[in-house]
Amino acid sequence: MIRTLDDLDAAGTTVGVRVDVNSPLGDDGRLADDARIRAHVDTLSELIERDARVVVLAHQGRPGGDEFSTLESHAERLDELLSGPVSYSDAIFSADAREAVRALDDGEALVLENTRFYSEEYMAFEPSAAAETHMVAKLSSVLDCFVNDAFAAAHRSQPSMVGFSTALPAYAGRVMETELEVLGNIDETATPRVYVLAGAKVVDSIDVARSVLERGLADAVLTAGIVGNTFLLADGVTLGAASASIVNDRSADAVKRAGDLLDDYGHRIYLPRDVAIERGGERVELDLSELPTTEPAMDVGSRTIAAYADVLEDAGTAILNGPAGVFEEELFAYGTKELYTAATRAEYSIVGGGDTAAALRRLGIDDFSHISTGGGACLRMLTGDTLPAVEVLDRY
Ligand code: 3PG
Repeated sequence: MIRTLDDLDAAGTTVGVRVDVNSPLGDDGRLADDARIRAHVDTLSELIERDARVVVLAHQGRPGGDEFSTLESHAERLDELLSGPVSYSDAIFSADAREAVRALDDGEALVLENTRFYSEEYMAFEPSAAAETHMVAKLSSVLDCFVNDAFAAAHRSQPSMVGFSTALPAYAGRVMETELEVLGNIDETATPRVYVLAGAKVVDSIDVARSVLERGLADAVLTAGIVGNTFLLADGVTLGAASASIVNDRSADAVKRAGDLLDDYGHRIYLPRDVAIERGGERVELDLSELPTTEPAMDVGSRTIAAYADVLEDAGTAILNGPAGVFEEELFAYGTKELYTAATRAEYSIVGGGDTAAALRRLGIDDFSHISTGGGACLRMLTGDTLPAVEVLDRY
């Protein structure tokens, strides 16, 4: 069983709370999108209002990457959003940082520095070894318990994700609780159940497709984006050099795996009927019979959109992950916009998070039953895998 905030006697206790506020940053290095921060407001404000002393742990970016930064602007945003005062420490577990934790009063919050500034945080550990890392051991000495609300990082077995939950009494936060409830009970949602697998995560999407088809969860799998192009190649369609290279860059054996899936479950897998390319600065749609072309396929075409929209509107449950095309360019946002809008008319709709959620915010579509905060974590759950950070919580 997983304990939740309902099981926690919060008043006067010092609670470490792992959140996932890994966010896009602007050119000035400050937050460009606060959606992931807002997602955790319920958990953090609830703890503050229940008089806990809240110590926030989170990562931002990856070492060496453009978005690897401090959490200073995240802390400032939390101070604006939360119901109690929020301070910031530019260290994670130094003597000063631990002193700042000890100095907290009931109903106050402290954001510690980016956990990935500590080198071991970017490594995978068994839970018991994670509990003995410097960061977890030092900080656990000033914490009474731990709340994991970082569903979006729950597929990582990094020290802050599995170590604190092993070293301390551990609870799921409200985001984690909701995600597990929705994504863990897909088999109970209304049928027909339709999966839209799109975007660029080709291998992950093929894994999801195989898993949900094998487990009898999917009545239909609609493919689009680079995932769709991969299935078209597997079906013998010659897309043209440019599109084919997009697919091949991502994974050498993806086409073969897509082909195997078509052999096994082809009757339940839908392939694009047409594609949109850019020619002379215009959107031009080509039927499959007009391929190959030298221009890359940037979106699905209107015939695909109409066919997929029919299936989605009649769905009991629509589960979508990834954009149907290069939605960042106005000419090619059409497929993504239309398919996701059609999915809002299904009885129940679930959208995979990460880049997809950001795309939908940009397109102004948000009328879904559930938008996951997780990208990779959501895909992993959809394949039926257990997530390491959830496994360690599930021990009561
Ligand atoms: C995400 O954005 O998917 C999570 O924050 C995990 O980040 P990571 O892929 O860098 O571990």
